[in-house]
Amino acid sequence: MIREIVQYGDPVLRQRCRPVTEVDAALVELAADMLETMHDANGVGLAAPQIGIDLRLAVIDVSHDPECISYLIVNGQHAELGSIMPLIFINPELEFGQEKEFGLEGCLSIQGIRSDVRRPAEVRATLPQLDGSVLVVETDGLLARALQHEIDHLNGVLFVDRLPAAAKVSMKNRLRKLLENQESR
Ligand code: NI
Repeated sequence: MIREIVQYGDPVLRQRCRPVTEVDAALVELAADMLETMHDANGVGLAAPQIGIDLRLAVIDVSHDPECISYLIVNGQHAELGSIMPLIFINPELEFGQEKEFGLEGCLSIQGIRSDVRRPAEVRATLPQLDGSVLVVETDGLLARALQHEIDHLNGVLFVDRLPAAAKVSMKNRLRKLLENQESR
C-alpha cells in the first residue's frame, strides 16, 4: 500500500526515532509499504519518519544504476549491487571514512529542492535485517550517500541541515516559502 509522504515542517521529521524492538507482521508490512511508496515516488531511499512512523527503519534502492558505486563489500566479501537491493534495515550503525566529497541530494519530504551536500565518501554500515541476520556493508558513491541521508532521517536530521553556511542562507528563504505553500494548501 502506498503511504502518504510527510512533508517538511512536520515535527515527526525532527524526532530521534525509537529503535525497533520486535519484528512482527505489521513491521514487515510497513517495510513493504515503504518500498512501494519509495518506488512510486521515484526515490532511492525512504525512512520510516517520512511516512509518519517514529521507528529506526529505512529502505534504499539504487539498483537503477550499477555504476553508482565503485565497490561493494558485504560481510567481508565482494558483492554485486543487485544482491542486496532493495535494501531494508532496522537499527543501523554507521562508521565513516576520512575523505569527504560533494554530491547532489534531494528528499521526498522536501519537494522541489536539491543541493550539493558534503559527506564522507565511504561508509561501513551495520544493517540488521528483518529476518534477524545482519549485513555489514562497505561502499562508496550513491549508496554511501543514501545510507547517510536515510540514517540522518532516523536522527531527525535533514540534508538541508548539512549545507555549507553560505548555501544555508539562500536555502532558508526557499524552505520558508515551502512551509508557507504547505500551510496555505
Ligand atoms: Ni530524505
